[in-house]
Amino acid sequence: MKRTVVTMPGDGIGGAVLDEALRVLEAVGFEADYVHADIGWEFWKREGNPLPDRTIDLLEKHRIALFGAITSKPKDKALAALDPSLRDKGLVYYSPIVAMRQHFNLDICIRPCKAFKGNPLNFIRRGPENTIEEPPVDVVIFRQNTEGLYGGVEWTDPPDNVYDALMSHPKFKKNFADVPREDLAVSTRIFSRNACRRILKAAFEHADKFGYKSVTICEKPNVIRESSGMMREEGRKISEKYPQIDLWETNIDAQMMWLTKNPENYGVLVSGNMFGDIVSDGFAGLVGGLGFACSANIGEEVSVFEPTHGSAPKYADYKVSIVNPIAMILSACMMLDHLGETEKATRIRKAVEIVIAEGKVRSYDMLKLKGSPDVLENGAASTAEVTDAIIRAMN
Ligand code: NAI
Ligand code: MG
Repeated sequence: MKRTVVTMPGDGIGGAVLDEALRVLEAVGFEADYVHADIGWEFWKREGNPLPDRTIDLLEKHRIALFGAITSKPKDKALAALDPSLRDKGLVYYSPIVAMRQHFNLDICIRPCKAFKGNPLNFIRRGPENTIEEPPVDVVIFRQNTEGLYGGVEWTDPPDNVYDALMSHPKFKKNFADVPREDLAVSTRIFSRNACRRILKAAFEHADKFGYKSVTICEKPNVIRESSGMMREEGRKISEKYPQIDLWETNIDAQMMWLTKNPENYGVLVSGNMFGDIVSDGFAGLVGGLGFACSANIGEEVSVFEPTHGSAPKYADYKVSIVNPIAMILSACMMLDHLGETEKATRIRKAVEIVIAEGKVRSYDMLKLKGSPDVLENGAASTAEVTDAIIRAMN
């Protein structure tokens, strides 16, 4: 059956890396029709909506999407960029990614961070007797993708009913009653039991399927007792069904420290929205950084696959693109896995492995060069050349 995949290049380098992923998908023999969908800054400026309804419709219809990246800017800058005819309509900029995740309840975010052998960007540490160790990092972060601090339930100068409710809490009363209301900013961190269960279930199932020995709940229940506490409580319950998988519990702050101490000890991690974002960026930094960090946003109906990097506007208008396409290509592999095309995904990953290990074709980040058009004369491969090498290695 031929599938239809929605492609959302978005802004900046989003389009450049997405094109490369499509070339790899074609080379591996994945048969699909692609339909383009609009998202991002351009549509905010022109239409006052960075996630137009027609894009929502396409996602609803086809259910699978590849997404590049978008540009976001603070509210005031966004308003200034708006087409003059739209400026006094009371439009407020919002992140189309967060909106898309919430609209389709893409609550399971999966971010694998696996070190490729020979990647010069891999984390190394000093071992005994001044030896150098390169820990074999292989973790998969499961980030709750729709709630918590990204839920958008927040106020500056909260309205009466909210203020009154807050005042009914003894700690609020004690610590904030003297603060003028216009000087109060409140962002909520709401967790729901069902969402905790869903992310934990996905994490344990993944660990079980792929033979990871541990699932680590990375939260902060000693301080954030209610929301982190709920994640922990549900995690303990689910873990009883998986006696062969160790349940570990870490605090986000300590976890960030342990990243450089023993990252190879971790397998699957589960976190709420914000901590998941933090810990996945932390692990990504150990395995090559943004050029390698892929992700999936999985809902019950719709799934969207995207690199975690943004639109890198600095590099967007280069005549020859220099950015690393691997994060986007690995995101496309996650799509193949999701569609049951595991053999094709494995072939692509093997090819990426070969290209990195050979070390002949490397984008500027892998050569530790500062990004500029000159990198191509200084030995760096372009975005397309990296893809060409991956396609060659596949055959
Ligand atoms: P960014 O991820 O776009 O870029 C940060 C730096 O990382 C770049 O300057 C570049 O040095 C490096 N980098 C990123 N992608 C790379 C690649 N494929 N290969 C090699 N190097 C790469 O983050 P930044 O600069 O903070 O944000 C730029 C814009 O992107 C902002 O408007 C931001 O809101 C947006 N953004 C969008 C995201 C998304 O679409 N999912 C995620 C993060 C930021
Ligand atoms: Mg991030």
